[in-house]
Amino acid sequence: MSHSIELGYIRIEVADPAALWAFLTDVVGLAPGEPTSAGEPTWSDDEAAQRVVIAVGPRNDLAALGFEAVGEAAFASTVARLAAAGFTPTDGDEALRRARRVERVATVDAPWGTPVEVVLGLERRPEPAPTPLVPGGFLTADQGFGHVVVATTAFDESVRFATDGLGMVQSDWLLTEIAEGIELEVRFFHCNARHHTLALARAPFELPQALHHVMFETNERDDVGHAFDRAFAAGLPIPNGLGRHDNDRMFSFYVASPAGFQVEVGHGAIQVARPWTGDRRYERISAWGHQPVVPGPAG
Ligand SMILES: [Fe+2]
Repeated sequence: MSHSIELGYIRIEVADPAALWAFLTDVVGLAPGEPTSAGEPTWSDDEAAQRVVIAVGPRNDLAALGFEAVGEAAFASTVARLAAAGFTPTDGDEALRRARRVERVATVDAPWGTPVEVVLGLERRPEPAPTPLVPGGFLTADQGFGHVVVATTAFDESVRFATDGLGMVQSDWLLTEIAEGIELEVRFFHCNARHHTLALARAPFELPQALHHVMFETNERDDVGHAFDRAFAAGLPIPNGLGRHDNDRMFSFYVASPAGFQVEVGHGAIQVARPWTGDRRYERISAWGHQPVVPGPAG
């Protein structure tokens, strides 16, 4: 399907980059790359020069999301759409363009409290970055590097930012009671064939982290299992073991990073076709699985 934008990169601020380095490289299986011109370490899961950028700071949270426009017309129309919706981006300077390895960047503060950067011309390498722990590689072509789920008290304005501003379309939504009297509402948005590039969760109060999780999709089903084994062997918390989501049908698990936010490694999600007729309410997160993994007795 033709599209204007895809998820280009995520920048995350963490207090202890060393712990995250091992997590992203040895557990998730991403390829470490060259640090940015600002000296920030980077990772990639494909040809792009950077997909994950780590900034050092106390927040342990999302620092910026980069949405890559597929061409100059898409860049201009995305910036114009944001401005028309009342979210006027400002042009990034040469230092920011160099740090993001892009030809153009326009920045706007999203209602959930962190910048969104609309970019053009994210630098590419001739070959995908080597990911020996994920031999089948990652699904990114025309879909961006994955998806991100953000929890926010500014939910309605964030939905407006995603739809009216970024031009995303709701894929479906989840409303379910997760505990007596406590409802979880999540809305899932697509901007290309990926079922959702961004999902927004309605936070009942200010949470310590806006970034709930970032998802990387493998081409091979077994690569999810191998990633699960690495997460388990590393002794990291696994809030959701292997399972399958009800809405996007993704087979996946979630591991908690040393910085608190979670990473979902998944495979086999459905893709969005146009016209999209699947927008409806779901009442459960998962068709099966995704229970928390509690380590058993040794031996
Ligand atoms: Fe997810």
